Amino acid sequence: MKFFIDTANLEQIKEAQDLGVLDGVTTNPSLMAKEGITGHQNIIDHYVKICKIVDGDVSAEVISTDFKGMIKEGEALSKLHPQIVVKIPMILEGVKAIKYFSNKSIKTNCTLVFSVGQALIAAKAGATYVSPFIGRLDDVSTDGLNLISEIVTVYENYGFKTQILAASIRHTMHIIDCAKIGADVMTGPLSSIKGLLKHPLTDIGLEKFLADFKKGN
Ligand code: G3P
Repeated sequence: MKFFIDTANLEQIKEAQDLGVLDGVTTNPSLMAKEGITGHQNIIDHYVKICKIVDGDVSAEVISTDFKGMIKEGEALSKLHPQIVVKIPMILEGVKAIKYFSNKSIKTNCTLVFSVGQALIAAKAGATYVSPFIGRLDDVSTDGLNLISEIVTVYENYGFKTQILAASIRHTMHIIDCAKIGADVMTGPLSSIKGLLKHPLTDIGLEKFLADFKKGN
């Protein structure tokens, strides 16, 4: 399972990279705005900064909603750095754009996916990644994990190469459940990743080991 961090915060990206388990970064316009990154050039510069911190794929989202605009933006984004993946929304024009980039071997991340049908068409168009938003489904009383499970089944049925990127992860258990189901990638906040290594018995055990060592010295 690949671990992506879902933030535009450079300190958190660096902390995750230093942990040694990071495979990439996802961002979106909301995450950029949260860090106070506004304006076209500042956002572009920020993507390059992120690429310089991490080794893996960095999703950069287009703002256009028409085919021509997405192509223009996506081509410019992909030229910024070899690690850039063009993030495209699951809309009709977006599907065409994903197909266009797929034909050119430019990596894409199909975002804002909330149904199996959307995931199926993203795979047919040749998306590199498909991003089902599990937290936002949970928010509206719909089982986000079930969607991951259904997409796994459909992709396995036909051998689709598109990687399932579980997005809108809100906490550590989401990661564990997605790993059990077989999501290829998860993207979540740093806290959800750090939660994986915590266990009170580890802390108690270590405290005792160190106390016993001191007794003998
Ligand atoms: O990766 C998608 C993510 O940024 C959305 O997360 O928490 O805003 O639903 P959230």
